[in-house]
Amino acid sequence: MNNTDQRPVAYLTRRYPAVVEAAFAEHFRVALNPDDTPRSADDLARALQECDVLVPTVSDVLNAHAFAANTLRTKLIANVGVGFNHVDLLAAQRAGIAVTNTPDVLTDDTADLTIALILMTARRLGEGERLVRAGTWRGLAPTFHLGRSLRGLTLGIVGYGRIGQAVAQRAVAFGMRVQWIGRTMAQTEAQAMAQARAHATEQSSPAATGAALSLEALLSSSDIVSLHAPATPHTHHLINASRIALIKRSGILINTARGSLVDEAALASALSSGQIAAAGLDVYEHEPQIHPALLALENVVLLPHLGSATLETRTAMGLRALENALLWVAGQPLRDRVI
Ligand code: DGY
Repeated sequence: MNNTDQRPVAYLTRRYPAVVEAAFAEHFRVALNPDDTPRSADDLARALQECDVLVPTVSDVLNAHAFAANTLRTKLIANVGVGFNHVDLLAAQRAGIAVTNTPDVLTDDTADLTIALILMTARRLGEGERLVRAGTWRGLAPTFHLGRSLRGLTLGIVGYGRIGQAVAQRAVAFGMRVQWIGRTMAQTEAQAMAQARAHATEQSSPAATGAALSLEALLSSSDIVSLHAPATPHTHHLINASRIALIKRSGILINTARGSLVDEAALASALSSGQIAAAGLDVYEHEPQIHPALLALENVVLLPHLGSATLETRTAMGLRALENALLWVAGQPLRDRVI
């Protein structure tokens, strides 16, 4: 960094597409993490003392320890990601640090990946690919490797925010029936129903139904359950052993939200005993560690947190974090302020 450069310091904790890093460098003195290694708690605590704007992502755990020093320099945490459960918001607020996230720009890609997991699990695509690679495929046979047709199945969406609604739109196009529960049901219902009606008219296929359901009723009446709720103390192990037991034996659980929503040990045991048919996971309780019992199972698809992992979306996320950082520099209201 140039010593005569008085611009604020932005620390990007991970590598970003070149366009994003270059755009930050136009406006900030930029500190990078050239090796792209996950930052430790101590690295992050130090970063809060050395930079004006910290640009972290979901792999950076900013707990109370990170905010403990008396000499924090950071004024804004411009998180790259819509989820911010890795940041202790109360500790940030006490330290006078604003926090922003990057909603909207990752909705479509995350919804697409959710549909990919639905197809992978219902049509048993991971298993199929493994057996081709293992050289054990003996050619087509009418009863070979049968999956489930999506048309006519009921998708239960838990968490009906932007991503949950985008999944619902896509599922309707596949001929699925959709039901949901959401924390902000009362506010989103009218909008969601209007959306569902528009889709039903366009596609003449079953519309989403917005009846007020309990989680338990949704679990027991859906063929596929897809999780789209944020990670909060309230949603920790929302899907535990007793709730998994409500899912049909033919049922499929999809999680592209946060690992903490599901009791992974209980899920592994339900999958291995055949209590539910399959699961498709993009997120885990202790990323990047995956419960060893899950790794041994054929009826689970395991992806490495790829929901928003496209060049287009990761670029848009980085630029959205920059937009928030520039608003902070200009002293203007932050577009995506969380606290
Ligand atoms: C998010 O945005 O929270 C994703 O999980 C990380 O890309």
